[in-house]
Amino acid sequence: MNISRRKILVSAASIAATLTFATARAQLQRSVPASLRSRRAGYGAAVTLADLNSDPHLAEAVIRHCTQIVPVYELKWGHLRRTEADYSFDLADNLLSFAESNGLKMRGHNLVWYAVNPPWVEALGNARDAERVLVEHIETVVSRYRDRIYSWDVVNEPIPDKAQHPGDRRPCIWSRHLGARYIPLAFRTAAAADPKAQLVLNEYDIEQIGDDFASKRAAFRNLIFELLDADVPLDAIGMQCHLRGDKAVDREGTQKFVAEMRSLGLKVIVTELDVQDQYLTGAINERDAIEASCVDDILSAIANAEPLESVLTWGLSDRHSWISQMFPRSDGLPNRPLPVDSDYRPKPFMSMIEKHLRAIY
Ligand code: G3I
Repeated sequence: MNISRRKILVSAASIAATLTFATARAQLQRSVPASLRSRRAGYGAAVTLADLNSDPHLAEAVIRHCTQIVPVYELKWGHLRRTEADYSFDLADNLLSFAESNGLKMRGHNLVWYAVNPPWVEALGNARDAERVLVEHIETVVSRYRDRIYSWDVVNEPIPDKAQHPGDRRPCIWSRHLGARYIPLAFRTAAAADPKAQLVLNEYDIEQIGDDFASKRAAFRNLIFELLDADVPLDAIGMQCHLRGDKAVDREGTQKFVAEMRSLGLKVIVTELDVQDQYLTGAINERDAIEASCVDDILSAIANAEPLESVLTWGLSDRHSWISQMFPRSDGLPNRPLPVDSDYRPKPFMSMIEKHLRAIY
């Protein structure tokens, strides 16, 4: 039976308009037959439950294209831990059930970050309290999702944007009280809570040509060696790949970094791929071509050492991207940072994902 894409979209929209999310989710699963899924092994996208609930086209596109998702903010301290006594798992639980009921995996993001910590965390006054709170959080969150969330960004963005020396580390509440040992502590606690989970150190701005990118990559590499020398249970390196469309990918530098990481037994995964296009000029097809070329460059460089296993974009459709708020275009035209446009039509960006990841049916 030839189910037209339009009929799927109309039915998804009508379903979602009248039913609860849970029922719509079940219906959506039936409204995207396996034969119409165009998925690539390991491809996924960051989503919010709010967007999945409010936009049935997004849910349908995620089911059609993705094999995994990652929550944008629902597992971060800012949402999870508004007070020390409470954990707000509701949204993350709903996202995980959406994933599992549609045959998708889910990544966890993130257990430790310098940003979006609630005020009571930023007010922690000594090492004893900081260690107790950090360990308890990781134990509670990781063990709750043991054997269900397969991969965690354990520590996110530990290197400052302008790393003056390889030993530079980004200051945060945790380093203020625990020094650099907060990072090994976080990984060891996560490993104890879920020995099978993939534990990832995640960073951005280490992929393109420029002194700041090279210095940040050198400091990131320095930290990785420190952790491996201390037998910290680190499984993978997360390259966020928030690319700037107006800058060149450092293919040689990225290839060298990735090859070295893999020689150390570490996997390299792409965790937040998108393209900041606010400075790109020209017609839409020209901008899309430049964006696709950036994506091809980074994925080729990372895949040079061995095939890519996991590539997530930070959003799926241009309709839902942080870049539109953070980096609007001066010409007022909509940003186009992601693989699928705001009408859910795949762009040349998606073709680059399909080029580098094997098709699964
Ligand atoms: O709408 C919700 C509200 O209902 C909820 O109560 C509240 C809880 O904090 O969040 C609200 O939504 C916003 C959320 O984005 C979804 O749009 C939050 O206010 C806002 O703080 C949050 O910002 C996100 C930011 O991380 C901080 O969590 C951005 O969307 C997200 O793109 C950004 O993502 C980061 C990665 O985690 C790490 N790498 C860089 C990347 C981009 O900055």
